[in-house]
Amino acid sequence: MAYMTTTGGQFSEDTAAINSYLENIDVYLAKWPIPESPEVSALLEKPSLDEPEKEALLKGFDEAFLRLQKEMNMKSRDLIVLHPGTPGLNELLDRFAPCHTHDDEEVRYIIDGEGEFGFVFPSGEQALLKVVQGDFIRIPKNTEHWFVLTQSRRIKAIRYFSDTSGWVPKYTASKVRIS
Ligand SMILES: [Fe+2]
Repeated sequence: MAYMTTTGGQFSEDTAAINSYLENIDVYLAKWPIPESPEVSALLEKPSLDEPEKEALLKGFDEAFLRLQKEMNMKSRDLIVLHPGTPGLNELLDRFAPCHTHDDEEVRYIIDGEGEFGFVFPSGEQALLKVVQGDFIRIPKNTEHWFVLTQSRRIKAIRYFSDTSGWVPKYTASKVRIS
């Protein structure tokens, strides 16, 4: 279950309550069921996947992509698979751990494992949102945020893009104050 803590001392694990809090910065969280298929389950259990396996797993989530193509004008998707054995994992994570923004929205569907998104509000307050399997999240462009893995250091997330050109972190001056 997703849960959120804030520098103001708030805590919630209710999707509706989290959304009403994150509404201020237009971040949207939803719970989407994982397709019940033996092939999807088998692929989700594997810590690392080769390219054909990634394609096969993405195919299992075609329904979500079709919906996003229609409703959010998403053009493409890919699958990020991270685990403790991922080469260069620390360097990769270091890119997204400081506060940053993007010129395009960040849209993710967590299909295995977990991670934490942090958000900086205009007031300076910060919130940390743990996302787990089945969590779909949309972070608007230019919204200050960061991302870290949890101790398990394992996640599979589908990334959806309406335009890949904006997909570079632009670092901001804010310091992460919650973990
Ligand atoms: Fe980001």
